Amino acid sequence: MLLQLQNITKGYGEPGSHSYRAVLNKLDLQVASGEKIAIVGPSGSGKTTLLNLVGALDQPEQGDILFEGKDITGYSTAELATFRNKHLGFVFQLHHLMPQLSLMENVLLPLLPQGKGISKEQKEWAEYLIRKVGIWEQRDQKPSQLSGGECQRTAVVRALMNKPKLLLADEPTGALDEENAKELTELLVKLSNEEGVTLVAVTHAAALADRMDKKYLLKNGKLV
Ligand SMILES: Nc1ncnc2c1ncn2[C@@H]1O[C@H](COP(=O)(O)OP(=O)(O)OP(=O)(O)O)[C@@H](O)[C@H]1O
Ligand SMILES: [Mg+2]
Repeated sequence: MLLQLQNITKGYGEPGSHSYRAVLNKLDLQVASGEKIAIVGPSGSGKTTLLNLVGALDQPEQGDILFEGKDITGYSTAELATFRNKHLGFVFQLHHLMPQLSLMENVLLPLLPQGKGISKEQKEWAEYLIRKVGIWEQRDQKPSQLSGGECQRTAVVRALMNKPKLLLADEPTGALDEENAKELTELLVKLSNEEGVTLVAVTHAAALADRMDKKYLLKNGKLV
């Protein structure tokens, strides 16, 4: 198993207090390497909360999160940051591209904090991905000069720059029209298959959820 969530409990507010709101309740999830799963559920059911835990952006109150068999819940902030950089890629509903940078610069941006400069291999990997998602012609354009679908594809390329084992997507097609949403869905499936990336996608979109290997419904703090 690439990812195992065991008995995860998470809420907001002071546990035990009046204002406490339980969101995830003894939740379990297993994701095999290379698997593509969708998590669906109504607004407020805790999908983003769950993804934040898997993405090591937040910690559960109880339970364990195992990545390749190692429990990450005891990691320090620095260890979590290293873990994220090494193994995870993120795609959000809004692409969060830097408006003043070109498509290519946005894609290369995550590599800069490593402080080693950008290697030839990394440049080639960026070019390979940008061509693969069909936005090579647009590489020097800024986000304001790109379509919504092109911005989202740029965000997908950026998320794959570190060759993550696990790609986490929160409503990746949420801001797109039907046609672009369909295209992005096919792109995510194709990239996951060809690059062997495990995909966990949170979505309202049936079209995306139906393309995944498994579909889970988040209900009453548990996955069914
Ligand atoms: N930082 C926070 N502080 C307090 N409550 C929060 C916080 N983040 C989320 N919540 C609450 O937790 C619940 C789950 O939120 P979450 O964002 O995980 O839902 P979601 O399933 O992603 O919804 P959506 O489909 O609208 O994105 C909601 O009731 C929300 O109000
Ligand atoms: Mg959400």
